[in-house]
Amino acid sequence: MKGLVLSGGKGTRLYPITYTSAKQLVPVANKPVLFRVIEAIRDAGIDDIGIVVGDTADEIKEAVGTGRRWGVKITYIRQEQPLGLAHAVKVSQHYLGNDKFVMFLGDNVIEGGISGLIRQFENSNYNCQIVLTPVENPSQYGVAELDPDTRQIIRLVEKPRNPPSNLALVGIYMFDEHIWEAVQAIKPSWRGELEITDAIQYLVDQGYQVYPYIHRGWWIDTGAPGDLLEANDLVLDEIEPRIEGYVDRDSQVNGKVTVEKGAEIINSRIRGPAIIGEDSRIVNSYVGPFTSIYHHVLIENSEIEHSIVLEHSKILDIPYRIEDSLIGRRAVITRSPIKPKALKMTLGDHSQVGIL
Ligand code: TTP
Repeated sequence: MKGLVLSGGKGTRLYPITYTSAKQLVPVANKPVLFRVIEAIRDAGIDDIGIVVGDTADEIKEAVGTGRRWGVKITYIRQEQPLGLAHAVKVSQHYLGNDKFVMFLGDNVIEGGISGLIRQFENSNYNCQIVLTPVENPSQYGVAELDPDTRQIIRLVEKPRNPPSNLALVGIYMFDEHIWEAVQAIKPSWRGELEITDAIQYLVDQGYQVYPYIHRGWWIDTGAPGDLLEANDLVLDEIEPRIEGYVDRDSQVNGKVTVEKGAEIINSRIRGPAIIGEDSRIVNSYVGPFTSIYHHVLIENSEIEHSIVLEHSKILDIPYRIEDSLIGRRAVITRSPIKPKALKMTLGDHSQVGIL
């Protein structure tokens, strides 16, 4: 079996973070989501992985490379425009050939990996199997209707007003070669995209074997800032803490806290679950639960909790606690000594600031 990871797309919901860079490379608990996806596929025993890339191709290639680091072989597949998930599959036909494959959205994180579902699909005669999970608010998702007797999928509906079930589509799908017939047959939807749900519905309508795999753990699509923070909470709670950096005698570190190589904690309090990235410095500060500080960050005389701070940023002398925040690369948040006393900002397009 092969793996296909979708890492094209526009990432508009994560603007301005993704204006200039790939959303799949935004870290959750200090590891890019895409790396977590590659590891999940590798851990399921698949070492031949194609990555669909778009405008951010160079950045993704630079970060992921050949795949040798994970013991897998990566092939990059160019999608000239983000014309839909089924379009991304279509442009990958030359790479996938007639092999069965698992398709995984490059911005999704799933608890417990995918080994179970890969085994089940490999050992079945299903033409397609899609991962579903019970959700509380099915009308916000793509939802599947199952035949009550055979448990086969009979219908997929996007954001239904009257949901036929509470089973939402997770961004993981498995196909055999019959998908080629489906992606050729379907037409773009009202939003101009080739929809994967239409391709699967085609398989159902043609009488192919389309079955669900019900996932019981958590699953997060990290497409929007709130989801990214939620994924960060869940993953931080799972990782084994380790202290590889320096914590001075005046600091207190409580709970599940990871301090990466070269990081320094000086006269500060870190309350886990939290992670402090390589070569970052936390000085006279408080870092509270569910916070990920990426590499080369400086936090001085400030307090932060339940947030993600990306690389090379600085938070200096802020008199209020920062919470529920996603702070981009090389951002600087500081007090200004220059009169008049006023808020002074240089913010990128689509930035959001909440002021007390
Ligand atoms: P989405 O989150 O549905 O789309 P998007 O990345 O364009 O984001 P936004 O809605 O914020 O603008 O995409 C899910 C995943 O699939 C994501 O990793 C990007 C990828 N993708 C492609 O590779 N090609 C495509 O044509 C589309 C639509 C998405």
